Amino acid sequence: MSNSQDLVSAAAVTAPTVTPAIDAPKAADAKGVCSKNGWSGKCAGGKCAGGKCCCCGWKWAPVALIAGAALGGVAICGASYLYKKYVSPTKKKPTKSIGLTPELHDYLVSVSCRQNQLLKELEAETHQSCARATMCSPLDSASLLQMLVHVTHAKKVIEVGVFTGFTTLALALALPDDGKVIACDIDEKWPNTIGKKYWQRANVAHKIDLKIAPATETLDRLLDQKDEIGTYDLAFIDADKDNYDNYYERSLKLLRRGGIIAVDNTLWSGRVLDPRDSTPPTEAIRKFNKKVFEDQRVHICMVPTSDGITICFKI
Ligand SMILES: C[S@@+](CC[C@H](N)C(=O)[O-])C[C@H]1O[C@@H](n2cnc3c(N)ncnc32)[C@H](O)[C@@H]1O
Repeated sequence: MSNSQDLVSAAAVTAPTVTPAIDAPKAADAKGVCSKNGWSGKCAGGKCAGGKCCCCGWKWAPVALIAGAALGGVAICGASYLYKKYVSPTKKKPTKSIGLTPELHDYLVSVSCRQNQLLKELEAETHQSCARATMCSPLDSASLLQMLVHVTHAKKVIEVGVFTGFTTLALALALPDDGKVIACDIDEKWPNTIGKKYWQRANVAHKIDLKIAPATETLDRLLDQKDEIGTYDLAFIDADKDNYDNYYERSLKLLRRGGIIAVDNTLWSGRVLDPRDSTPPTEAIRKFNKKVFEDQRVHICMVPTSDGITICFKI
């Protein structure tokens, strides 16, 4: 055993047992406040040892636990409030555009779409007669296309994808009397059974030149006529997605500077974001969106109308 160990052992043997100084019952003053712990209450003459107040007999250990828990609760609530107010808004994505409820869409249409009654009837007949009626654009898309006709002072328009002729009618209605829509579709059934009837009733049939053929062929034929290049004011692309780039490139050549190409379905019902969706149309839309975003020949803007419409302004 070393000297230091000797000293420690000796101290252990000789040191008196230290117990807390207990002044009770005189620790409580006349008002019943413990002079050691500050507890208030009636002095019971107890001792501070064992978590009990020497004066009033309160058990301070459970009280301290409850007080600690309460304080902790307050701190957590405060931190959560501050997090929600200052930190969380920057992390969670705020709503930046509106997913319109059917009611809000109806309201939007009621206060902004001054549509011809025949457009509404054509839309209604399409929904009654066609299994794939969702291919027909909504009224607010028709308004947007008509606005593009007006801002470009369009006279020459290309439409790729006619279906029942709803957007064809919208475009033709907005065009001046000597304006023309080259309306391209591969299938004559719906323009013939529904579209033409409304085009005639609206007195715009003379403005519509329906071309039944694969649209790339129709556009190539236009491009073969050299004097057609750079003369169109507006193009609306709304057909098979795999060919979007073909339609875009051909339309861009046919367009004058300052002309506009509007491309439908560029949000593709949100499927562009679905990593499990690698179907050809979805991949084509993704590729097209990326290409147009990087294309310095145009200014672009994507409007969340309908299924997403990208507007490309030829520089
Ligand atoms: C979404 S619909 C057009 C809807 C119309 N723009 C509207 O909003 O009422 C697409 C149309 O593209 C046509 N289409 C599909 N592939 C085509 C192709 N290769 N060439 C021309 N038209 C095609 C279809 O026959 C269909 O009528």
